[in-house]
Amino acid sequence: MGTTDKKLIAVVGATGQQGGAVVHALRAGNQFKARALTRNPAKHRELADEVVEADLNRPETLKPAFAGAHGVFLVTNFQEHGAEELKQATAAVRAAKDAGVKHLVWSTLPDVEAISKGKLHVPHFTGKANVDRVVKEAGFANHTFVIAPFYYQNLLDPLAPQKQADGSVGWALPLDPNVRCVHIGDITELGNIVAGAFAHPDEVGNGEYLPLVGDFMSFNEIVDTLNRQGHEFSFKQVPTEAFAASFPGAAEAAETFRYFEAYTYLGSDSSDRIALANKVAGRQPTKFSTWARLNFPVQMLK
Ligand SMILES: NC(=O)c1ccc[n+]([C@@H]2O[C@H](COP(=O)([O-])OP(=O)(O)OC[C@H]3O[C@@H](n4cnc5c(N)ncnc54)[C@H](OP(=O)(O)O)[C@@H]3O)[C@@H](O)[C@H]2O)c1
Repeated sequence: MGTTDKKLIAVVGATGQQGGAVVHALRAGNQFKARALTRNPAKHRELADEVVEADLNRPETLKPAFAGAHGVFLVTNFQEHGAEELKQATAAVRAAKDAGVKHLVWSTLPDVEAISKGKLHVPHFTGKANVDRVVKEAGFANHTFVIAPFYYQNLLDPLAPQKQADGSVGWALPLDPNVRCVHIGDITELGNIVAGAFAHPDEVGNGEYLPLVGDFMSFNEIVDTLNRQGHEFSFKQVPTEAFAASFPGAAEAAETFRYFEAYTYLGSDSSDRIALANKVAGRQPTKFSTWARLNFPVQMLK
């Protein structure tokens, strides 16, 4: 198929981890043309077949960014100062619909408020779940939800092992390390699922939820895996209250760990959804031990 015959997919967040993975998978798969969206197209000319400006805070940039696209991958960035995910995503969904987009893939997360019956508040999860309704009601020919896991990459940044008061290097978190509760994975592999969703709209284009999960682990299992590879990391469970006051954003991080411990990252048994995601991706995601052997830097070894 020549480039001109291929359907075009516009990718929000293309310079970031999730969108970057999607651009990579689309280009590798060769079935679709990729349009990378960024606030700074001049800085990222080589990123994809097309590189176009889009700013989720400037809705007027979005319709031209989506013009002519068959599909859109949408992610919002909670960490970005001032990001209002519902407002940003709603503007993007409307612009995509107006531009005639057929298939929208939204990167969502579980609704912690609903799962915990209002007891736990994790805005970077629930804020994304609140967008699901907007996507469902927009009336696209196809729509799909993907769920990013706890990135393996978080363990390098921002959750890299730290020097502890007792002299060891490792983690001090408000989480029972014995509880297997973290759905975790290599975020660079999210693109395989997203590209697979665009390629299989009949199978997963009717509001299916597709989580990327490479492993399901306790923190002890994470630490043991690394230590079997030659590291000597420690883990200490610390009280939630002390941790929550220790740095800006720590209170939400503490609440997130409480949620993981009580309900798991995905909030429910998701084995059917995980199997479907792996089916459309056409491969099994990389296990933590394999990823760590290749990616946990040697200088972290004692
Ligand atoms: N870390 C985890 O374990 C985890 C797990 C699940 C979900 N998440 C979620 O993942 C999201 C972040 O995705 P990521 O990791 O791919 O981010 P990232 O690598 O930090 O990159 C951020 C991306 O967001 C784009 N962006 C920021 N503000 C924008 C705006 N106003 N308009 C358009 N684009 C904008 C940036 O594009 P330009 O700068 O090029 O414009 C960049 O591509 C967060 O919402 C987080 O809650 C994280």
